[in-house]
Amino acid sequence: MSTKNTPATRHPATRHIISINDLTDREIETVFEVAQSFLRDLPDSHFPYRIGRSTKIASDCILASLFYEPSTRTRLSFESAMLRLGGETITSADPATSSAAKGESLADSVRVIANYADIMVIRHPRDGAVRLAAEFSPIPVINGGDGSHEHPTQTLCDLFLLKKKNKRLKNLKVAISGDLRGSRTIHSFVYALARFGATIMPMAAKGMELPAHVDQRLREEFRCQMVSAKGDGDTIDALYVTPEEPHQQSLFSGPELETDIDAVGKKVDAVYVTRFQKERWADKEQSYPKIDRKFLSEPKYSDASVMHPLPRVGELDAAFDADRRAVYFEQAAYGVPVRMALIALLLGLKGKSLHKFTGGFERPKYPLYDQPRPIGIGCANKNCIVHDPMETQYVRNKFYVVKTQSEAECKLRCAYCENDIEDFVVASRKNKWFAADPAALVRADDQHFKDLIVFAKAADAAEAGFHSRRAAAEPKPARRAASKG
Ligand code: NCD
Repeated sequence: MSTKNTPATRHPATRHIISINDLTDREIETVFEVAQSFLRDLPDSHFPYRIGRSTKIASDCILASLFYEPSTRTRLSFESAMLRLGGETITSADPATSSAAKGESLADSVRVIANYADIMVIRHPRDGAVRLAAEFSPIPVINGGDGSHEHPTQTLCDLFLLKKKNKRLKNLKVAISGDLRGSRTIHSFVYALARFGATIMPMAAKGMELPAHVDQRLREEFRCQMVSAKGDGDTIDALYVTPEEPHQQSLFSGPELETDIDAVGKKVDAVYVTRFQKERWADKEQSYPKIDRKFLSEPKYSDASVMHPLPRVGELDAAFDADRRAVYFEQAAYGVPVRMALIALLLGLKGKSLHKFTGGFERPKYPLYDQPRPIGIGCANKNCIVHDPMETQYVRNKFYVVKTQSEAECKLRCAYCENDIEDFVVASRKNKWFAADPAALVRADDQHFKDLIVFAKAADAAEAGFHSRRAAAEPKPARRAASKG
């Protein structure tokens, strides 16, 4: 294991789950097959969704939980899952009583804890923190929620519930309500829904719409199209529709359509409610929608599963709990079999005869722009782990160069928090020029790419000693006059 300030050399089989997009659709189905086998083989005779017994397949394995933020369900269901598998758990759940209080970096903590356990789950308030942690870990790292970035294992529980209720994952219609900006559960969830061809009905609280980079990824990478849905007194502004069936494809002749009758009229399969993520907002007192019996009495919700990642703090009326559509406690119960399955697959304890669990979502292979600090551009997201003063010695400014639709242009996507930057200037170390020409990163061959350095703005490049390419190319008037003379 590496003890230097450099990322660990991973065991070739080590798999980290940081984003839901680190799993292929087939792998998600494999997790569900294994989770279902645990429910079948280790049942509770009274509750079909509860694991009632234990196995010994992980009897020589240890799970470390490293939680820098409060948690009830995620940590306890991960630990319960490991215990049900016959393994052991060690926990650091209170940063005030761990070495974080003394100023220890996440990168150091992870390298230490990796010697004490076989698999690790981490929750952290910074976006992208768990991706950084994984860079330093030779054992599998699972993201238990990083800032407002992602919460992939919550999405696995959500999808497992949806599959149970609807007998399929494809082409569902799901309404998502509340703080769509601050909720990491939502961000993992919408990517997965889009991948499985869902129609997504955003019902954001005012000012809490999906972040721009998530919205853009849904459209650009996950083939979602925006469809206005103002039909028959509907209060919804828009739907994300993923064309799956050929007849749907034909509806998408332009980037935005007025109405998609099919999508608007279709009954809703699930309503996913989230709480106001007050820990992620400066203004803690904002008006917030409440989902109650009256809201859910609309005919289109008559068969909808009402879901919530929990905790709820008033946005979902407790008077609704007795309704047959209320499935949030069942959803939380699936945290155990689903996380048992994920742990077992990541540790190679299960699934040898099943489908291989060694792949990874076939994401476009974007070139990585890896920039030495302190020069050049930094992530624009102030909550990204790269801005954490405790981690400055361990992070680099790393971005994927993502081609935009025109293919000739590009943006930078932070390799940690996945926020995008669209405007920047590109400089050449060799020639000492810079230009407001992001596409230079796309045009460059491998050799030239290594020579380029990106700055947030022209003034930063100038301050670092680079000159504007345009200014350099144009002959200076004084010199012209002199040569004439
Ligand atoms: C969620 C989280 O932590 O993001 N909780 C959970 O893991 N079930 C949702 C929330 O806190 O609102």
